[in-house]
Amino acid sequence: MDAVRVGVLGCGNVGAALVRLLTADGAGIAERTGVRLEVARVAVRDASRRRRVHLPSGCLTGDAAAVVTDPGVDVVVELIGGIDPAGTLVRTALEAGKPVVTANKELLAHAGAELFEVAARTRVDLLYEAAVAGGIPLIRALRESLAGERITRVMGIVNGTTNYILTRMAEEGASYADALAEAQELGYAESDPRADVEGFDAAAKAAILATIAFGAQVLAGDVFREGITRITAADVAFARRLGYVVKLLAVAERPDKDDEEVAVRVHPAMVASTHPLATVRGSFNAVFIEGDAVGELMLYGRGAGGMPTASAVLGDLIDAAHNLRTGGSGRTTTLAPATIRPMDELCSQYYLNMDVVDRPGVLAAVSTVTAENGVSLASFEQEGLGDDARMVFITHKARERDIQDTLEDLRGLDVVKRVGCLLRVIGPE
Ligand code: HSE
Repeated sequence: MDAVRVGVLGCGNVGAALVRLLTADGAGIAERTGVRLEVARVAVRDASRRRRVHLPSGCLTGDAAAVVTDPGVDVVVELIGGIDPAGTLVRTALEAGKPVVTANKELLAHAGAELFEVAARTRVDLLYEAAVAGGIPLIRALRESLAGERITRVMGIVNGTTNYILTRMAEEGASYADALAEAQELGYAESDPRADVEGFDAAAKAAILATIAFGAQVLAGDVFREGITRITAADVAFARRLGYVVKLLAVAERPDKDDEEVAVRVHPAMVASTHPLATVRGSFNAVFIEGDAVGELMLYGRGAGGMPTASAVLGDLIDAAHNLRTGGSGRTTTLAPATIRPMDELCSQYYLNMDVVDRPGVLAAVSTVTAENGVSLASFEQEGLGDDARMVFITHKARERDIQDTLEDLRGLDVVKRVGCLLRVIGPE
């Protein structure tokens, strides 16, 4: 059996894990799948650096472009990340008729439409299972198993770092900074932690998921995004007391079942502890899918880390190698842009909290603001903070626009000292 020669761009956590998997079980993979994969070239930023992974001599290079154009490379695996130069390298490979496997959510969420067009034109695979939720076989499930399904909502925990942080805060009372440092040590975090904690990573993944689920192009810029940096231990503890867990959620949905408009957003949310997503702890990811015929289903697994992500890359690689042999390629269709419903029109329950001066008439002033904005309160709690007090509310279903106006008006009251974070509430009202 002739080997399919693989050119790997980037040898960080995932690249090194992929090389390890191929070296350790190349023969087993060939036996099980009928495809023999051989690491032909590996491009790294600094070829002189010592690596913990064993590479065949002479395959390491600092020149990624040379790997892509090398006639001795049949399939390209892009693990560099970011938009540039990764995008140019992927495009060059596709133009040259070489299938590409990538884990690059940022690239796909910004320039996916254009790259898929090239792949469709040159009839080669552009596969990206590892780009969303690491080792969970989610993309293939949505693209293939659920291809005929009218999906109404995809809601998931797709960032391991933030889920790890929120879990440590909820269960151990860890500080935000300590939990982030631990996640970084464990290799879950992006090199720039803002990508995780500000929700950029999850937003890119949400755009990719929405595009597949709804068959219309959603870009990273279409996704409403809020991160977890304003969440305090007090918010997490309060949520827990009320039977909720705080999670950073990526949500892609058709707000009106029969309409084509889609809403895509990433934000921290209070998830009812009875919801399956509430049980997803640590760096695990899970995606809860709702469809007309299939009903509800959830996929769960490791969403970050070298080995789980490399496992997804390997699956794609085997697929691409098979297709190369048979002269076929996966399904690639050119998609029209999605019609995006503005975040202002979201309808949800909300959790809000504020620190106020503790004196007569303050509650009346606050509730006048909510009433004037048409926001109805479902529950209220107050605790003393010396001379001040913290008020915590959960609203009945309200419109995002009205809630944002409420927050602005509350900030303008002289009795309100601080308005804390806003959490959308997921669960039965
Ligand atoms: N930083 C990402 C996470 C890695 O924490 O989930 C996988 O995209």
